[in-house]
Amino acid sequence: MNDNTIDSLRDALKHSPENTPLRLLLADTLLDLNRLEEAEAEYNMILKTSTNIKVKFGLATTFFKKGSYSACNVILEEVIEKGTTDVNILTLYAKALLKENAVSKAIETYKKALAINPNHSDEELDNQLRLKGHNEAEVVNEEIDNRFLQKPTINFSDVGGMDIVKKEIELKIIKPLLHPELYKAYGKKTGGGILLYGPPGCGKTFIAKATAGQVNAKFISVGLNDILDMWIGNSEKNLHEIFELARQNTPCVLFIDEIDALGASRSDMKQSSGRHLINQFLQELDGIDNNNDGVLILGATNTPWNLDPAFRRPGRFDRIVFVPPPDEVSRESILRLKLQNKPTTNIDYVSLSRKIENFSGADIDAIIDIAIELKLEASFIDGIPKPIDTSDLQNAIKKHKASTQEWFMTAKNFAMFANDAGLYDDILTYLKIKK
Ligand SMILES: Nc1ncnc2c1ncn2[C@@H]1O[C@H](COP(=O)(O)OP(=O)(O)O)[C@@H](O)[C@H]1O
Ligand SMILES: [Mg+2]
Repeated sequence: MNDNTIDSLRDALKHSPENTPLRLLLADTLLDLNRLEEAEAEYNMILKTSTNIKVKFGLATTFFKKGSYSACNVILEEVIEKGTTDVNILTLYAKALLKENAVSKAIETYKKALAINPNHSDEELDNQLRLKGHNEAEVVNEEIDNRFLQKPTINFSDVGGMDIVKKEIELKIIKPLLHPELYKAYGKKTGGGILLYGPPGCGKTFIAKATAGQVNAKFISVGLNDILDMWIGNSEKNLHEIFELARQNTPCVLFIDEIDALGASRSDMKQSSGRHLINQFLQELDGIDNNNDGVLILGATNTPWNLDPAFRRPGRFDRIVFVPPPDEVSRESILRLKLQNKPTTNIDYVSLSRKIENFSGADIDAIIDIAIELKLEASFIDGIPKPIDTSDLQNAIKKHKASTQEWFMTAKNFAMFANDAGLYDDILTYLKIKK
């Protein structure tokens, strides 16, 4: 088939415009040649007089190729609702669902196609969904173990500042872990987690890891987007596996980052599968079916205002802790911590920490990195490594912009206009805005 074929088909159609099979051949050929606009026009023309399933499949494929996945799905859903057993249609639907991140539905659909024809396979779907036959569960588990289970080498002493956060973690999750009998004696309930929020780079992930090191526990760190992107089984199952991994490895700090991915903004969250994932999450947090003893749960988000309020109920993330950019004293201690194992001389920590207002811990990492690079360059000249001094860091500071301010522009609005029950008072206090 080539462009000449198209011309002859068009000629023939001029003489018999009502010849549907001929026009379908033209449309299919155009589709094959990726002449998508023309194909779409021909399919639409046929659909005026015919409801042939092949025509609909052709039009849906055209939309798929154009990246119009929802248009593709509208057509396919109508066909599938009528109970089609065409594996090609089901496969295309699964692919389009996957493009729209509706993973569990994609899996369900692809499985339906495989049930109809066990010999059918689609390489792309096989790869993305990683349906690995019978030992699927084992492969998945091992993969999850290796990917997420860590033994942290840092503890609270590696974290500069963050005194309030450390205290909160101490009281709310470390003490109950170490002295469960005392809590029991007073009939005080334990469980639930802490949700950390604040601008990026200010140590949310870092303190979670240090918490695990502090109590000599294992550490599982997972971003909610990882769970959504694992494509294996479905998101709810992935989430369950992660909680199970934590329960089997107690004591364990389970850190769940990017909790905001559960917010309503993601397109896949608008669908019912998003609601399922939220419910699954709440169920895992509550530990009703499974015991969460020995699992310390920490969550983090940059956008707490997107979080479903159900997460804040007692026994869930009932402590919401603001992790601000480090104050001057904290900046000094972070600087000291980060430079302690590096060659330095005569560092004026006080003046430096005053200069780096609004810098996050990650920004401090960055300026030290820049200073080292500048120093390395200078060392190449005579081959002698020279210690880092105050002026090196001052030069580095000039080359780096604090990364925390953008976050506050958004946060301020939420704190001022959507401050449910004073949830974000800490932000206002930090910004020195009186209510
Ligand atoms: N208080 C701190 N003390 C020491 N290092 C810090 C601190 N805050 C941030 N850092 C450094 O910045 C890096 C990024 O911090 P991270 O915890 O990933 O930020 P967040 O999770 O809040 O976005 C860390 O790996 C760590 O090296
Ligand atoms: Mg983080």
